[in-house]
Amino acid sequence: MHTPFPFHLWPLTTHLRRGRLHMRHIDLAAWATEAGAPLYLYDAATLNEAVAAYRQGLNAWPGPSLITYAAKAWLSRPLAQALRRRRLGLDVVSEGEMGIAAAAGFPPDLIHLHGNNKAPALLRRAIAQPVGAIVVDNADEIDLLERLAADEMGEQVIPLWLRLNPNLLAPTHRYRQTGHHGSKFGLGRDEATAAAERIRRHPKLRLEGVHTHIGSQIFDLEPFLAACDHLIAFAASLHQAGQETIRYLCPGGGLGQPYHPDDARLDLAQAANRIASHCAAAWTRYNQGVPFPTLVLEPGRSLIARAGVALYTVGSVRHLEDGSRIIAVDGSMADNIRPALYGARYTACLPAAPLSAPIGPARIVGPLCESGDILIGDLPLPAVRPGDTLAVPVSGAYHLSMASNYNATLFPPVYWLEDDHLSLMQRRQTVADLLQRDLSLPNYA
Ligand code: LLP
Repeated sequence: MHTPFPFHLWPLTTHLRRGRLHMRHIDLAAWATEAGAPLYLYDAATLNEAVAAYRQGLNAWPGPSLITYAAKAWLSRPLAQALRRRRLGLDVVSEGEMGIAAAAGFPPDLIHLHGNNKAPALLRRAIAQPVGAIVVDNADEIDLLERLAADEMGEQVIPLWLRLNPNLLAPTHRYRQTGHHGSKFGLGRDEATAAAERIRRHPKLRLEGVHTHIGSQIFDLEPFLAACDHLIAFAASLHQAGQETIRYLCPGGGLGQPYHPDDARLDLAQAANRIASHCAAAWTRYNQGVPFPTLVLEPGRSLIARAGVALYTVGSVRHLEDGSRIIAVDGSMADNIRPALYGARYTACLPAAPLSAPIGPARIVGPLCESGDILIGDLPLPAVRPGDTLAVPVSGAYHLSMASNYNATLFPPVYWLEDDHLSLMQRRQTVADLLQRDLSLPNYA
């Protein structure tokens, strides 16, 4: 049976030339051998198209709009610069992400600080920058903000959003559900009302936005739209209570991305259009006469996942009695924890022969001392030999940002392909990098 090559999972610049997989002029298998796998390659055109799709969909919103990239999907200084060039905002959650953004010269007013347990030092830094908004997650954070605001000498007012928990179950893996009661994220309706009142009474705090994020890898938009309604109804209740006008409306990120040929697909422009139109109608219904706020969408995965490809080298092929194979590559759960953590299902191919007929199933494993070190559990592949390159698409989000140094594995290098230019954007980690933090114990030097 002939299965068509799943181009929709690969970067836009991917094509076949003389039966070999290329991105633009790059022959993936030949280049991986030359440059030295494991490595990651990002395609700028694929990111551009995702941004354009969101922008097109957001045209259905009558007010201003903003796309903020969720840095947790993956961030590096050059990527932050590329995002800035594309006029995106940035959602950050840590000193590290904030520091990378600052090093990239990312405009602080386009940065939103999230998180369910922000350290005082992180909040202080966000206030000092100042970032565009601090997204308040719980009542204790308001205590902290009140204390920090009291320390502030100047007239500066701290712009806040409230993260609401709408008690909705996103249809996704339970580790990625964040909008139901019992989740660690966000304020219930009454808590949010009380929080808004406290902020209103404080001269140095100002409530500017309402936010929620119900989860990640969502293909069914209904719960997402219900979360939008929840935010908009809450904003209306604040307006009716005499609170200042809500200027930012952010239903979060989380739109789904297929990884495997069998996965559902989501048209980003259509999805963004549906969200924008739904919000426009709901805002008009609930908040008649109140100006449309800035609609902020906060995607990570759906902007960057498809842009990234992981390239590995096969080290060994073990043939089992049942006819299947265990194929060990030089990538692992250290650069992609998603299969082990969520049971995420991937596809892959030999870019030197992507259309060759499979001879049977293979399990793709890494070299780590862990039987759970599996990248793909069941992949039909043609004959494979040590030295072959294996390419895994949809590797751009939540791989390198969740990578670890388990077994002191070194992070792979990352390349960026824009127009016809291939650039190294992050070099391979070295043992010297690992040792940089280590100090000497007295008497052991
Ligand atoms: N906004 C907030 C507040 C978030 O917590 C997240 C993701 C996003 C936006 C972006 O969601 P996205 O558009 O990327 O789905 N490690 C998991 C995903 C965890 C997502 C955490 N929060 C995975 O690999 O599937």
